[in-house]
Amino acid sequence: MPLKILGVAGSMRETSRSTLALQIILDAGKSFGAETRLLHIRKYPLPFYDPNRRDGADGHNIGRITQDVNWADAIVLASPDYHGSMSGTIKNFLDHFWSEFAGKTFAYVCTSHERGLTVMDQMRTAVRQCYGWSMPYGASFNGDQDFDVNGHIVNIALERRLKMLARDLVIYGKIIRDQFLSDIASDEVATFAARYRG
Ligand SMILES: Cc1cc2nc3c(=O)[nH]c(=O)nc-3n(C[C@H](O)[C@H](O)[C@H](O)COP(=O)(O)O)c2cc1C
Repeated sequence: MPLKILGVAGSMRETSRSTLALQIILDAGKSFGAETRLLHIRKYPLPFYDPNRRDGADGHNIGRITQDVNWADAIVLASPDYHGSMSGTIKNFLDHFWSEFAGKTFAYVCTSHERGLTVMDQMRTAVRQCYGWSMPYGASFNGDQDFDVNGHIVNIALERRLKMLARDLVIYGKIIRDQFLSDIASDEVATFAARYRG
């Protein structure tokens, strides 16, 4: 079964560099045998998470985006560095889900002038809180320097890192996906996966 990767673009900027980097990861993922989808939140806006409503069929994209999340085995979060943290768009996306993230592997990409470590750490913390797994490294870069004005990547080392991240996500994401599904199908009690059995 090919790994299914959902890329979540967390910038609302039309010329977003984090979205371009995300697309490179998804294209590379495909070349390593994965199926991919891009969730462009600018095109499919999510309302602010409101605990009073879970209405998927109200024209607010929640149902469609929930289907994408459930479809995915692995998720790549792409965020700009906003005040040393993830964008509100990404945080709001995360707030809409919880148990859906269990057993999925997450990777992180970030545009930042300051290496984006706090941004990726905060995304990692939120995902861990939902029993998702995280790649042990991410990719952060300077959007103005590493892409040209036409949106072409000009930093070869960054391009290599994005492709490596895609390759590792496909390999390790499959291992985690297969183990999680096997644990759910078993009657093993001593696994966190037990709580996700139907
Ligand atoms: C509200 C806001 C806060 C920002 N805060 C930071 C910051 O703390 N550190 C930083 O390096 N860049 C910061 N930036 C710059 C963005 O990270 C940068 O423009 C990035 O390239 C945007 O990503 P995008 O091209 O995917 O939209 C900020 C930008 C905005 C709009």
